[in-house]
Amino acid sequence: MLVKEATYTRLCSTKKILTVNGKFPGPILRAYKGDTIYVNVHNGGRYNITIHWHGVKQPRNPWSDGPEYITQCPIQPGGSFNQKIIFSTEEGTIWWHAHSDWSRATVHGAIFVYPKPGTSYPFPKPHHEVPIILAEWWKKDVMEVLEEFVRTGGAPNVSDAYTINGQPGDLYPCSKSETFKLSVSQNKTYLLRIVNAVMNEILFFAVANHKLTVVATDASYTKPIETDYITISPGQSMDALLVTNQQPGRYYMAARAYSTNAQIGFDNTTTTAIVEYNTGGTTSSPLFPYLPSYNDTNAAFNFFGSLKSLAFGSTEGVPKKITTRIVSTVSINTFPCAGNQTCQGPNGTRLAASMNNISFLEPNTVDILEAYYYYINGVFKKGFPNSPPYLFNFTAQGLPLMLQTPKTGTKVKVLEYGSDMEVVFQNTNLVVGLDHPIHLHGHDFHIVGTGFGNFDEEKDPFSYNLVDPPLRNTVTVPISGWTAIRFKAINPGVWFMHCHFEQKLLPPPPHMPPC
Ligand code: C2O
Repeated sequence: MLVKEATYTRLCSTKKILTVNGKFPGPILRAYKGDTIYVNVHNGGRYNITIHWHGVKQPRNPWSDGPEYITQCPIQPGGSFNQKIIFSTEEGTIWWHAHSDWSRATVHGAIFVYPKPGTSYPFPKPHHEVPIILAEWWKKDVMEVLEEFVRTGGAPNVSDAYTINGQPGDLYPCSKSETFKLSVSQNKTYLLRIVNAVMNEILFFAVANHKLTVVATDASYTKPIETDYITISPGQSMDALLVTNQQPGRYYMAARAYSTNAQIGFDNTTTTAIVEYNTGGTTSSPLFPYLPSYNDTNAAFNFFGSLKSLAFGSTEGVPKKITTRIVSTVSINTFPCAGNQTCQGPNGTRLAASMNNISFLEPNTVDILEAYYYYINGVFKKGFPNSPPYLFNFTAQGLPLMLQTPKTGTKVKVLEYGSDMEVVFQNTNLVVGLDHPIHLHGHDFHIVGTGFGNFDEEKDPFSYNLVDPPLRNTVTVPISGWTAIRFKAINPGVWFMHCHFEQKLLPPPPHMPPC
């Protein structure tokens, strides 16, 4: 993989963007379940970079996971790094992306994991497979957007358009002729391999007049569910069947934001592509699909709640009894602005996210994995706090001001090998309430429960689904609500767990010296 700049024109303006092999979106990586693939990443760009294989569990192989300063030092301009990608149980669609500052905005691509040769999909073989990469386009240089975000400490600037397979679509000026078009035959089944590569927004996606049948999420099969629209968070991926059983003609596919907080990066634009029957009707103007309204939390979470895993063999079973439960708040807090400056958060503060009131700081001397492996002191601290430091009504408005200024730190949670983990994410309304897509590296987890309001340890576990909860690597914690996940800690290593929105306190500068 060659990371390099390439010139692209969108929305009537031309600029250089960072790409892999000159492509936006990047090349598709294809593998069979169980394969091991070796990739040489060469950095031909101007900034430090790393590449992460999002959703690949990499058993006992954190060294190739990719997040900068977590499992490796960033690759300097001109440098290279070899990564070994070990596919184990994944089957379906996942993706790869840059894992340093904001470069993943344009440096990303799909990973298709096919069934092992000789085995087949748990659904009829589709006529054709189609990547649907949802991303966005900034007229500005993305590094400039990042720099502005760091300097102002407010909400990150929103992009100028969402894109489907690199194209904003024909609701935008100058985009009409390049709009992504899927030419289909009538009465065939198409497998859409959908990825949300957007930086800061959850999306609704639908195809006019056609139902989608979801068959997998995050490269784990689900019971097929038929739906008019899907909800997909940054980090998530989905396999959905589209049956072309309508009148020959043209139909829009469209995506736009689900966002409950207009203060935090709300983009109200809609991106489109076209499904065009090759049997006629192509001169008609395309029909537009139904998409839920931007703040329709019920629509967003009814969809997530309808997902159920296929029944698994014993190795993939849901932990029924747990060894450890971690309860962690997820919040947006305020921090002092750097220097004597005034930032755009409340009272001139800087906004940033935290878990259990710790806002994570990346080390920049050496990555955590090496520090752990070589016993290098002073890089990270154990003792990520176990439970919320205060007991209060997390989802109420107007929480005590003292809670809005949490601590910063590089704290890790140590898990005993083999333990059956439960993690409950409790969303708060500290400064701004927001849905948070939480991603765990190195593992898939079962989403056993979710609800609105405060998690109740006495009551809520009785309503868990321990039979067929969806298996995913990224879960959306609802605004004013909570989500519980379970997994077995059987993958030794150092693994990042983070919100897949880019709202951390201070990303490392893109030119850090080698660590
Ligand atoms: Cu999609 Cu930490 O990654």
